[in-house]
Amino acid sequence: MVQTINVDNQVMPAVGLGLWKIDPDTVAQTVYDAIKAGYRHLDSAADYANEVEVGQGIARAIADGLCSREELWITSKLWNTYHRKEHVEAACRRSLADLGLDYFDLYLVHFPIALQFVDFADRYPPEWLFDPQVAQPGMQLDRVPLSETWGAMEQLVEAKLARQIGVCNYSASLLHDLMSYANIKPAMLQIESHPYLTQEALIRTAQSYDIAVTAFSPLGSLSYVAIDMASEAETVLTQPVVLAAAERAGATPAQVVLRWGLQRGTAVIPKTTNPQRLVENLSLSDFSLTDEEMAAISGLNQNRRFNDPGAFCEEAFNTFYSIYD
Ligand code: A2P
Repeated sequence: MVQTINVDNQVMPAVGLGLWKIDPDTVAQTVYDAIKAGYRHLDSAADYANEVEVGQGIARAIADGLCSREELWITSKLWNTYHRKEHVEAACRRSLADLGLDYFDLYLVHFPIALQFVDFADRYPPEWLFDPQVAQPGMQLDRVPLSETWGAMEQLVEAKLARQIGVCNYSASLLHDLMSYANIKPAMLQIESHPYLTQEALIRTAQSYDIAVTAFSPLGSLSYVAIDMASEAETVLTQPVVLAAAERAGATPAQVVLRWGLQRGTAVIPKTTNPQRLVENLSLSDFSLTDEEMAAISGLNQNRRFNDPGAFCEEAFNTFYSIYD
């Protein structure tokens, strides 16, 4: 049985495949394998630089009769350089074209960070640096209010390019502010969350507005070790309370951590390119965690954020830009 989560009265599969950092050379096959394994929810973004190849995997799966477009839930995200109202629709259409789709189930503002526009013809996806060729490349911020971006996101719904719209990496204050001007309410908040970053107050804030929550990096540090943003020792998968629950439930530690995410009411979008883990990460409904296990895993919280622009923008892009403080 595929577990689902209610997103403004639409049914979204609660486990999706996260596509960040999957090599464009292999992602079409991974997407195909995932759909074959039962995934119906894919989490994409322009910034992941693999949407064309993701689209090839989707197209082959549909052509082979594994599923229809309507059975898939496909999310993508507006990159930081396209926050001005005149760029939002073009960016959405570019992602749709790359993926070979005519609508998104969900389109999200990727970060509450507006960067100077970079023309598609100059660089796509443009990533964080304004001009990587100059002697000292850095980020160039743009003065665009998030309300302007949201207004243009609302027009995507009117234009039937996106069925639902939402935001990523917003704090509780930004959500309160957004709710003060939104004509179309955000259907989703996507945030980093795992047992070391439980974000209870933020999730509660979103849920108080009936905004669904998706947890990215639901397994914690693992994705960040290879890019030097976490150490191997920071894995949550060897924590005694996780191991004990895994042993008791006859599940793997990763399944326990993902199930913890589901049982607290969030969707989870683990990334994997390993065919066995694809199946493992989707098989979360034949066991459940007790209240005590849930509390013990939540007790691991240490407010450890692995994906923090306040840290990585300075190190990687010569620009200090904090958003969570
Ligand atoms: P791999 O692609 O080699 O499987 P997250 O989406 O939480 O950031 O986690 C992704 C990271 O966790 C990747 O490094 C992925 O590596 C690894 N991973 C995904 N699923 C599992 C699993 N079931 N057990 C162990 N590691 C996993």
